[in-house]
Amino acid sequence: MNAIEIRNLSKSFRGMYAVDNLNMTVPVGAIYGFIGENGSGKSTTEKLICGHLVPDKGKIKLFGRDYKDAGVRVRVGALIENAGCFPNSSVWDNLMMQAINLGLKNRDEEIRRVLEIVRMEDSAQIKFKSCSLGMKQRIGIAMALLGDPALLILDEPINGLDTDGMRIMREILVDITQKYGCTVLISSHILGELEKIATHYGIIRQGKMICEISAQEMENRARVFVSLKTKDMQGAKDALQRKFANVREEDGYLRVYDVNNTESIVEYLLKNGHVVNEIKKNKIGLEEYYIELMSKKEGK
Ligand SMILES: Nc1ncnc2c1ncn2[C@@H]1O[C@H](COP(=O)(O)OP(=O)(O)OP(=O)(O)O)[C@@H](O)[C@H]1O
Ligand SMILES: [Mg+2]
Repeated sequence: MNAIEIRNLSKSFRGMYAVDNLNMTVPVGAIYGFIGENGSGKSTTEKLICGHLVPDKGKIKLFGRDYKDAGVRVRVGALIENAGCFPNSSVWDNLMMQAINLGLKNRDEEIRRVLEIVRMEDSAQIKFKSCSLGMKQRIGIAMALLGDPALLILDEPINGLDTDGMRIMREILVDITQKYGCTVLISSHILGELEKIATHYGIIRQGKMICEISAQEMENRARVFVSLKTKDMQGAKDALQRKFANVREEDGYLRVYDVNNTESIVEYLLKNGHVVNEIKKNKIGLEEYYIELMSKKEGK
């Protein structure tokens, strides 16, 4: 079953399409990385799923049911833009107000549960305004987790976090899916971080979904290349280009694409008078996949 299934969704603002015939499929249990340039329509799509905006047309199904169905709406938690907390109230009180709003029973227990998930059990009495950015983002997630949702929608939750903040956020998101069986849709520009946790990706451009792929598929399809350094880079590049179809210089390395055998390259270069100083096998990562996809679509 899919947690989210969107077909031909469109939303325009003053005649301009922010979301344009978009399709999206998010399987249950996925951490779905939603990627796209600024203004490509990520937040608008997320707001449509959450019912904060009304679509012009299209279908949104959550867990196989229409997204307007009250029974399914209560299974969705979201953090879009900011958490909407009161700065002078404590973390606990902010969560309590939201728990009351949601009409939750066992409120104390539920607040303790979400604080534990976001690793903030010891920070409940701190005023929201005194929390660091990383803590504020985690409080936002805790708010979204109240009521035990089956789907969590997070808009750029790792923006502005430091290395440690990102690591904690990664651990929390993996916990949410693996321990609590929640599906997570997360938009982000930080592809290197997303790559560490996402199980699926959706790439949006000018309101259209241009590619949906699982991390496994991407791994299987990823182009391999060998990167190397020699003393005479230009001479080695010329020699390699006579034998291999795709040789490029990037970040101070020569890259030979679609080749896996380092020995044959070393041998070939040696025959042509070039000693290899450094050589390693690589695979194209999410960032390069994304850049390649974008440049293809732009016809570069
Ligand atoms: N309420 C609104 N009124 C008018 N235009 C809007 C509104 N919300 C979004 N837009 C426009 O819709 C387009 C998509 O915006 P959206 O915020 O969904 O992009 P995004 O992918 O989330 O971008 P970012 O990465 O900057 O957050 C943009 O051109 C934006 O200006
Ligand atoms: Mg946005």
